Amino acid sequence: MIVSLCSDAAAISELAASRVADLLRARPTAVLGLPTGRTPIQMYAELVRMHKEEGLDFSQATSFNLDEFVGIGPDHPGSYHAYMAEHLFNHVNLPAQRAHLLDGLASDLDAECDRYEVSIVDAGGLDLQILGIGANGHIGFNEPADGLSARTHRVALLPESREGNAVFFGGRVADVPREALSMGMGTILKARRILLLATGAGKRDAIEAAVRGPVTTRVPASFLQLHPSVEILCDNDAAAGLR
Ligand code: PGA
Repeated sequence: MIVSLCSDAAAISELAASRVADLLRARPTAVLGLPTGRTPIQMYAELVRMHKEEGLDFSQATSFNLDEFVGIGPDHPGSYHAYMAEHLFNHVNLPAQRAHLLDGLASDLDAECDRYEVSIVDAGGLDLQILGIGANGHIGFNEPADGLSARTHRVALLPESREGNAVFFGGRVADVPREALSMGMGTILKARRILLLATGAGKRDAIEAAVRGPVTTRVPASFLQLHPSVEILCDNDAAAGLR
């Protein structure tokens, strides 16, 4: 596990975007695992800039998003479909049929999760999984618990995760769905490389526990210690517990 200390969120975003760009240039057919949340917004802005100004090409790439809320559709402004359209997909040349997200309105949610797992395998697996981290140590929506799911699954969101997402629902926690579909821990850990982004003092304890603490289902990100190729990009505040 490598921790790269960056001066601020802008530096993290530029470095993260450069990691994606380097991969796409070396392997145009790369399969990307993509996160949502506040943290990667600037990384996506940088990728859009690189596409427009430097010709960064997504035309042969494939993406799979980490998670999606249950019970809202792609047109809902709080959905991760809408987030991805706004921040990346509407601005780059990634073919829509290869930009995969879970369907939170599927009539059979378990079958939807199984379908997603098969799609990732059929695409050849994830070359690079990009992650944020919850203040509670979650990755994707793998929430702290006595046990974790290996595969893509349906999950009840903890109150802090709903609060963290209220910003995408006009600040109203009550409007944040109570359930989501998420890649599982095994889905994430099978990625060939993992890049985790963390900014701000709110992530300090989670980063300390993920990097220094025991591997425990109570801090899902601590399982990244078991992966052979993880890079964590932190600003000073998020890394403060590692000094
Ligand atoms: P954030 O969310 O980027 O909005 O802090 C990260 C996460 O919950 O994974």
